[in-house]
Amino acid sequence: MSITILGIESSCDDTSASVCKDGKILSNLIANQEIHKAYGGVVPELASRDHEKNIVPVVDQAMKQAGVTKEELSAIAFTLGPGLLGSLLVGSCFGKSLALSLGIPIITVHHMKAHVMAHFIDEPMPPFPFLCLTVSGGHTQIVLIEDYLKMSVIGSTIDDAAGEAFDKTAKMLGLEYPGGPLLDKLAKTGDPKAFTFAKPNVGDLNYSFSGLKTSVLYFLQKQEEGFIEKNLNDLCASIQYTIIKILFKKLIKASKETGINHIAIAGGVSANSGLRAELQNKARTMGWTVYIPKFEYCTDNAAMIAITGYHQYLAKDFAEQDVSPKARFEM
Ligand code: KG4
Ligand code: ZN
Repeated sequence: MSITILGIESSCDDTSASVCKDGKILSNLIANQEIHKAYGGVVPELASRDHEKNIVPVVDQAMKQAGVTKEELSAIAFTLGPGLLGSLLVGSCFGKSLALSLGIPIITVHHMKAHVMAHFIDEPMPPFPFLCLTVSGGHTQIVLIEDYLKMSVIGSTIDDAAGEAFDKTAKMLGLEYPGGPLLDKLAKTGDPKAFTFAKPNVGDLNYSFSGLKTSVLYFLQKQEEGFIEKNLNDLCASIQYTIIKILFKKLIKASKETGINHIAIAGGVSANSGLRAELQNKARTMGWTVYIPKFEYCTDNAAMIAITGYHQYLAKDFAEQDVSPKARFEM
């Protein structure tokens, strides 16, 4: 009998639904919320209202595109956390109600685990064990993966996430939210060595990005008017170069300490062209075998929730109807 999972993701500002049948993704629909641009960041109350508007049409479209009826679903998987509580509530309430009405189980998914599990959507899939640098708007982690769903965080940021470092420095340059993708685009024609910024170094396999943010801020405050406009591409390239340098220092350390040479990246920041290129470089210089997700599986999407749900279904990892979303959720 086939296993057909509906996956729902609503942890931040994207409403997404995906259908996975026997480990194959049949659809992956995402409704982006444009409304937050005007505010320079995600407004939680507006995000949950938009999720409410989007969830029914997005799920409907994902089911249609997959050519699957509700009656064919084996289980519904949704993001339990971490994320914005009001946003998570929309996906979880919807998922729970639909599952209850269909008499099928629910599967609760950890958002950051799902980012890693995106590597099991398409070939080539990493062999166990492997390391994954998981970089998103709220998290920066080095994860050791020993088996499907068996993961441990061996390093993480003690303050800002890498995505936040991109977004906050981009904001200082006057770029629209979310600044990460724009900064990436502008960096392409800039000189990465034009300016030098702080590379905070904390112990073990941990990261820190707040010092970089301050260093960019103080540097910009010292400049004359018009400096940013004149040097925008170089500034973007130099900031991106610094973030990537910081990320790789600990990733290399993690690979040396664990002896693991299969290295993956995941999460929104793994869409960054500089980071992707540097990982390819490291494949040559460090002898790593590297795994880079397709663009659509880097930033938030429900395909990663559906594939994680599929593996949790195989492991019979179901949840009870009284489960509540978790804004903070240990991995
Ligand atoms: O994983 P994600 O979609 O959402 C969270 O779970 O947070 O990650 C969003 C983050 C944002 O900070 C966004 O600016 C960043 O990923 N991002 C990028 C790029 N695309 C998305 N940062 C740098 N370069 C990109 N191309
Ligand atoms: Zn994410």
